[in-house]
Amino acid sequence: MSISFFAECTVLITGASAGIGREFARQLAPAVNTMVLVARRNERLAALEMELRIINPHLEVFSRQLDLRDHAALERFCNWLDESGLSVDLLINNAGLGDRGAFIDSEWERVLAMLQVNIETLTYLTYRILPSMRKSGCGAILNVSSVASLVPVPHLAVYAATKAYVTSFSEALRAELRSANISVTALCPGPVPTEFDDVARREPQVNTAAAGREMFSVPVQEVVRRALNAVSRDKARIIPGTLVNLSMTIFAFIPMYLKRLILNAQAMREKASFVSPAHPKYEISGMI
Ligand SMILES: NC(=O)c1ccc[n+]([C@@H]2O[C@H](COP(=O)([O-])OP(=O)(O)OC[C@H]3O[C@@H](n4cnc5c(N)ncnc54)[C@H](OP(=O)(O)O)[C@@H]3O)[C@@H](O)[C@H]2O)c1
Repeated sequence: MSISFFAECTVLITGASAGIGREFARQLAPAVNTMVLVARRNERLAALEMELRIINPHLEVFSRQLDLRDHAALERFCNWLDESGLSVDLLINNAGLGDRGAFIDSEWERVLAMLQVNIETLTYLTYRILPSMRKSGCGAILNVSSVASLVPVPHLAVYAATKAYVTSFSEALRAELRSANISVTALCPGPVPTEFDDVARREPQVNTAAAGREMFSVPVQEVVRRALNAVSRDKARIIPGTLVNLSMTIFAFIPMYLKRLILNAQAMREKASFVSPAHPKYEISGMI
């Protein structure tokens, strides 16, 4: 893939202050004209902005500090976009978060944050930006989902369900928008070493998840490179990483009753290991 496919584009990236979103900004910076970066951590956005200007001195960058759980603030941001005359060519709905642990023990605020950021914001931003794409006659939307969207995941139940929404929404929207020359791609990564696990971890859990997930882990640079390649080739879905891709292909052929047995066993195993950090048996496993 040549990054020049994105030449002259205006790109909006949510969750640009860390991990996958920040890497999208870095890889797109040499090619695009204008970037709008959104996240809550302003100092991170400012540092990234400086970095991007070094990569491409001609790049126009708009950093916006925004809590995507705040619908009124999101609406103000969308109004600003409309008034600014910026016409977004590529929307990267990347911001998202998880919450690892039993649903019954979850804090409602964290559940709500996932529903708001992973589902509501993604849907609303898409809703607000699509009219200008339709007007300009082309555009691309990249929704960052997860392999968790393809299989229910005990102890990540709400997160996986929010991502199932993202993948389903992306596929249906893609079909609706074929005639409008707007492409929609769902990025479904397995584990990627970012801050995601730290955010998803509940206090006082100790994060040993990384150990069991290492063999499936794909570097963030590779995930983003594969995702941008998929957008440039108008692909519906991309699962980066050979092993992750193969596992998901095999899993898709397993009958549901067998999947349930596997999920039950996984849930039991994890439940037994959800103990305080002082406990030597503490361990969390899983691929996502
Ligand atoms: N890492 C993985 O293993 C993995 C696997 C599959 C899918 N994904 C998906 O990939 C996407 C990016 O995750 P990541 O791995 O890059 O995680 P990350 O390093 O934790 O980054 C998450 C980004 O989302 C932003 N964000 C979270 N809540 C927000 C809010 N309320 N308002 C505004 N921005 C918010 C964060 O910015 P601020 O905190 O500065 O606001 C941050 O920039 C997510 O949708 C995630 O579900 C990740």
